[in-house]
Amino acid sequence: MSPALDKRLPGTLTPGVIKQGLKTRWLGQSAIFSFDVIESTNAEAKRLAQEGAQGGTLVVADTQTKGQGRLGRPWVSPSGSGLYLSTILRPAHSANWFPRLALTAGVAVASAIRKTGAMPQLKWPNDILIADRKVGGILTEAVFDKKRIEFAVLGIGINVNTEQDEFPLSIRNLATSLRLSLGRRVSRIHLLQSLLCQLEEWYESLNKGGFDPILESWSEFDSTLGRVVEVFLPESRVVGVAEALQSDGTLLVRDKENCLHRILAGDVVHCSTDRSSGLKG
Ligand code: BTN
Repeated sequence: MSPALDKRLPGTLTPGVIKQGLKTRWLGQSAIFSFDVIESTNAEAKRLAQEGAQGGTLVVADTQTKGQGRLGRPWVSPSGSGLYLSTILRPAHSANWFPRLALTAGVAVASAIRKTGAMPQLKWPNDILIADRKVGGILTEAVFDKKRIEFAVLGIGINVNTEQDEFPLSIRNLATSLRLSLGRRVSRIHLLQSLLCQLEEWYESLNKGGFDPILESWSEFDSTLGRVVEVFLPESRVVGVAEALQSDGTLLVRDKENCLHRILAGDVVHCSTDRSSGLKG
């Protein structure tokens, strides 16, 4: 539908508005599903992918009633103030490639946010922070066929023009938005178009040039390495210094007994803001 024929509220992220001037080659160029309200764009993208939707399909919503975060947490999605989107990807790779996708998306999101003038940082594995507060998050999900990826869904949430009082009290001191950090509104449509370009570029770089360029760029945005971190794993907890990222994207954490832990996935809390403080005692 042309933007002129679309009767939804001005500022709504309709397919016509998104496609107008979108400079990607394939991402968001075929099917775009845009909702005023949906439970979760990731859930909808998974449903569409199961029905055969092609790679590059985009699902976007003005608000989500059951936005999903990592580790079963909710993603607060106030109406009209954030970006809530999911893309369907069909990478021709095996299952062990999949963790690379989230780190790659982190670089793309941080790169798009940096173009607004903000100073984003990445917290391993894929939180986007500004001044130590969370401004965005990434939820990657996949369905595997034997050991191959049948499809992946890459979900991204960014607090764009969210006001302080739109965050529930429980996260008010932990979250921020681009508006709060820059002191001005940011165009959601321009940010979305720029994000889609960055995603396409970094995804193609991952497929063609491998993971090293992504890791290099990830390190430029990194806020985790060198810090004391507490990692919550399903059955245990590790406290130590986040020492390095490995070539597969896993995090190496050295505890005070000098034991090195290889973290594949987990909930990471930055304990010290001072990267030189190290582990004491
Ligand atoms: C996290 O940091 O915990 C990940 C948050 C991911 C939120 C986005 S919003 C769009 C997409 N749809 C969802 O239900 N979740 C992701």
